[in-house]
Amino acid sequence: MILEVNNLEGYYGLSQILFGINLEVEKGDSVCLIGRNGVGKTTTLKSIVGQLNPKVNGKIKGSIKFDGTELVGMPSYKIARLGIAYVPQGRHIFPTLTVKENLLIAERVGVDGDKTWTLERIYELFPRLKERENSKGEKLSGGEQQMLTIARGLMQNPKLLIMDEIIEGLAPIIVEELVKVVSELRNRGITILLAEQSLKFALEVSHKCYIIEKGEVVYKGVSSEIPKEVFVKYLGT
Ligand SMILES: Nc1ncnc2c1ncn2[C@@H]1O[C@H](COP(=O)(O)OP(=O)(O)OP(=O)(O)O)[C@@H](O)[C@H]1O
Ligand SMILES: [Mg+2]
Repeated sequence: MILEVNNLEGYYGLSQILFGINLEVEKGDSVCLIGRNGVGKTTTLKSIVGQLNPKVNGKIKGSIKFDGTELVGMPSYKIARLGIAYVPQGRHIFPTLTVKENLLIAERVGVDGDKTWTLERIYELFPRLKERENSKGEKLSGGEQQMLTIARGLMQNPKLLIMDEIIEGLAPIIVEELVKVVSELRNRGITILLAEQSLKFALEVSHKCYIIEKGEVVYKGVSSEIPKEVFVKYLGT
């Protein structure tokens, strides 16, 4: 197991948001946290990458083990160095830097000297980014910006790629492209943890799903085998 989250509680100030989340990600697997608005998906991901912390905004309890190392209490830059790349919700790129500069600034040799992802490999996966190589981030379309944020995550040569609601607000044709991209990453054996509100997208790109409701895991299973009643019950679709 590359990631093991045990009894995770998360708080912003005094308000408790996560009530004992348990989840596991195996090496090479693609896992999705699915749930409606405000159930705690982002909070869970932020907890894993060390962005819920007493100095800034909140606290967590429980255990999060990555490759056997306990992450609770560890600062986010150290967690990143262990090989976790985080693509946050909302497409954070450097608007005044070009696509190429955005990518090069994110480049890092992975743990164990992994140099799989280079500018060239990224441009093979995202030909659009190659075409827009010299354009500034702010000039890109929403879809292109999202591709750039994912590409920036890959440039870190991560052992685990975490992505939060990457299709939010994008046109169906771009969503199709992202389905292909994530499927390709899966084929290459990259370990992926996603958060998603769109059931369709989640089922297309993940092998396992965790359904979250009010800060708790209410169902887990293999994505292709989840009975329809479960979706109706928890997601209303
Ligand atoms: N910085 C914060 N301070 C206080 N409360 C917060 C903060 N961020 C989120 N919350 C609250 O925590 C709860 C869970 O939010 P979270 O962002 O984890 O949900 P989510 O499942 O990612 O939702 P969405 O699908 O809308 O992104 C919500 O009730 C939200 O209002
Ligand atoms: Mg969210």
